[in-house]
Amino acid sequence: MKLYNLKDHNEQVSFSQAVKQGLGSQQGLFFPLELPEFELTDIDAMLEMDFVSRSSKILSAYIGDEIAPHQLAERVKTAFAFPAPVAKVSEDISCLELFHGPTLAFKDFGGRFMAQMLSYVSGADEKITILTATSGDTGAAVAHAFYGMENVRVVILYPQGKISPLQEKLFCTLGGNIETIAIDGDFDACQALVKQAFDDEELKKAIGLNSANSINISRLLAQICYYFEAVAQLPQEKRNQLVVSVPSGNFGDLTAGLLAKSLGLPIKRFIAATNANDTVPRFLEGGSWTPNATVATLSNAMDVSQPNNWPRVEELFRRKTWRLTDLAYGAVSDETTQSTMRELAEIGYISEPHAAIAYRLLRDQLQEGEFGLFLGTAHPAKFKESVEEILGQTLPLPQALADRADLPLLSHTMQADFAPLRAFLLKA
Ligand SMILES: Cc1ncc(COP(=O)(O)O)c(C=O)c1O
Repeated sequence: MKLYNLKDHNEQVSFSQAVKQGLGSQQGLFFPLELPEFELTDIDAMLEMDFVSRSSKILSAYIGDEIAPHQLAERVKTAFAFPAPVAKVSEDISCLELFHGPTLAFKDFGGRFMAQMLSYVSGADEKITILTATSGDTGAAVAHAFYGMENVRVVILYPQGKISPLQEKLFCTLGGNIETIAIDGDFDACQALVKQAFDDEELKKAIGLNSANSINISRLLAQICYYFEAVAQLPQEKRNQLVVSVPSGNFGDLTAGLLAKSLGLPIKRFIAATNANDTVPRFLEGGSWTPNATVATLSNAMDVSQPNNWPRVEELFRRKTWRLTDLAYGAVSDETTQSTMRELAEIGYISEPHAAIAYRLLRDQLQEGEFGLFLGTAHPAKFKESVEEILGQTLPLPQALADRADLPLLSHTMQADFAPLRAFLLKA
């Protein structure tokens, strides 16, 4: 697969390069040169396949020229080792639950597939060091995605005492190729250290530094697969009247959904659902791109006012000659998010703030005869404190968290200073 840089169409790279590089020059995003499409009969046949076989076929359509089918299938099987079930919420609405992986969030799909691809394209003898800073969630997803992989060392920096104890347990108890460092400072200090490391060319070369960036194209390709999995679980009569609502922050998930539609998956309409950080809904409403300062909300993973995947969404609409006016949208306040979570609990479905936003817009905008699906991007227990407070009930810990709660922390501690970090990274 060839990809071009959205900021400089002359910069074209292979999939392998895009995976290793993350971003192009001027921080430009990579976008596929060819947009494959399946025939309707192919789609019907694919919807009969199991998750791993179908996903391998989807991914082959993009990257089959760079990775042989059996190798791709092997890696997809390792990455997608947990289900993505569609759970009924009401007569005409279901939730695609993407939180049954090791870190209980949709990021497990993209993160684990990216890890597989990065190790594949890096060659057998090439050593890679993944260095990342986290304020909680990303660290867990990265750590679990790369855990146990040969030739990959993962170093994660986090602000000491500033992430939840449960979050810390989730990724600081793994050991093996996962090293975690509690930095005496805040998240910005951790990020600054990571940046210093990436600016150090000698260090970069010596340890094969890579960021496993969330903008990596391999993540998006992986995320396409669960939209197909959702449709495969629906009865025939619902498949052609499908409206999908996507809780959006950086708009990666929505980009992946649109790529699924571009491949031929029958999705009638998407809803771009945001919280009060509503740059995109205001843009779709009035045509002007005017990001406000980011505000803190209950759905904090969506507190983004300059969504970094939006250029990919626009490019796809342009390439497919789709109209942006066909993209539905909406923004939901914290107050409405809370009342929606209570409403969902009353009908027997416990949800968390991100998914509740997507549900709310779906239930408001769904028309007669349509069937609605919203993405459940995180397990409610990941937002235990706020969910318990809003619903007035205690949530049981899911097994993945309960299992780790009693394990000892294996983190190192360090001053927010580059010299000791550099020395740490250079030690074998
Ligand atoms: C729980 C949850 N929901 C939704 C989103 C938004 O996804 P995206 O940034 O792809 O729009 C995120 C992003 O991190 C998230 O963590």
